[in-house]
Amino acid sequence: MAQGGGGAGRRPRVLLGATGSVASVKLPLLVARLLALPQQPEVRVVCTEHAKHFFAPESLPVPVYSDADEWQTWTRLGDPVLHVDLRRWADLLLLAPLDANSLAKVAGGLCDNLLMCVVRAWDRDRPLLFCPAMNTHMWDHPLTGAHTRALRQLGYEEVACVSKTLACGDTGLGAMAEVDTIVQAVQTHLRASLTTPEPTREPGSTQEPGSTQEPGSTQEPGSTQEPGSTQEPGSTQEPGSTQEPGSTQEPGSTRTI
Ligand SMILES: Cc1cc2nc3c(=O)[nH]c(=O)nc-3n(C[C@H](O)[C@H](O)[C@H](O)COP(=O)(O)O)c2cc1C
Repeated sequence: MAQGGGGAGRRPRVLLGATGSVASVKLPLLVARLLALPQQPEVRVVCTEHAKHFFAPESLPVPVYSDADEWQTWTRLGDPVLHVDLRRWADLLLLAPLDANSLAKVAGGLCDNLLMCVVRAWDRDRPLLFCPAMNTHMWDHPLTGAHTRALRQLGYEEVACVSKTLACGDTGLGAMAEVDTIVQAVQTHLRASLTTPEPTREPGSTQEPGSTQEPGSTQEPGSTQEPGSTQEPGSTQEPGSTQEPGSTQEPGSTRTI
């Protein structure tokens, strides 16, 4: 399979990472809206264990991966490493919703589950969009500002949360951006891509071509390359942003596929 990065002649590939926010109830809608984009992206989902409380993975018309799949596909040296292959597969990584816990992990570089490993291994030349979603008191905590700032400084694009009465009853900032807003942000990147859709989708099909692999399969979704990227670890970017929680996107986060 071709390496990620958006080659001409195939559909763009969006990897959707979902975490344990109540906003994960919107995953079916978000996936449907992504699949309906004119660029006809392939979509795959990686979710945390807590995210599964809010949607039924089997209800989505796309492959859904979680922690067990990482270890079911690897038993010995030479076996595919799922988080590396998903990272290679994807042109764009969308973290929606990104809860406070996983936001903190990303900011701190932790990688203790499949999704966090994909994020930690992410090729920062490819777009990463994140959509914070949390209780308004969590949002107002100074740690949230530090964490979102850290992500923006890495070049990741924030799709700002919105103010509303949250599922818990509190009113204020912290709700995940509207699905339309998120899809529009993704589309901006796909539009700029040189990738062109392949005319292989069956009319009326909800399953995208080339994505027949089931979670837990021993076939890797990405390329046949060995684990171990030649990309340098870490970034050359400096901390120092003053952008606050709830603010809009960081200048310079306009990477495209
Ligand atoms: C009903 C319910 C709703 C939750 N919603 C959110 C939320 O919107 N945002 C958030 O940051 N945490 C929320 N949490 C807490 C997270 O699920 C918890 O921090 C969990 O450890 C996150 O794990 P993960 O980041 O690995 O998915 C919620 C918890 C429950 C029980």
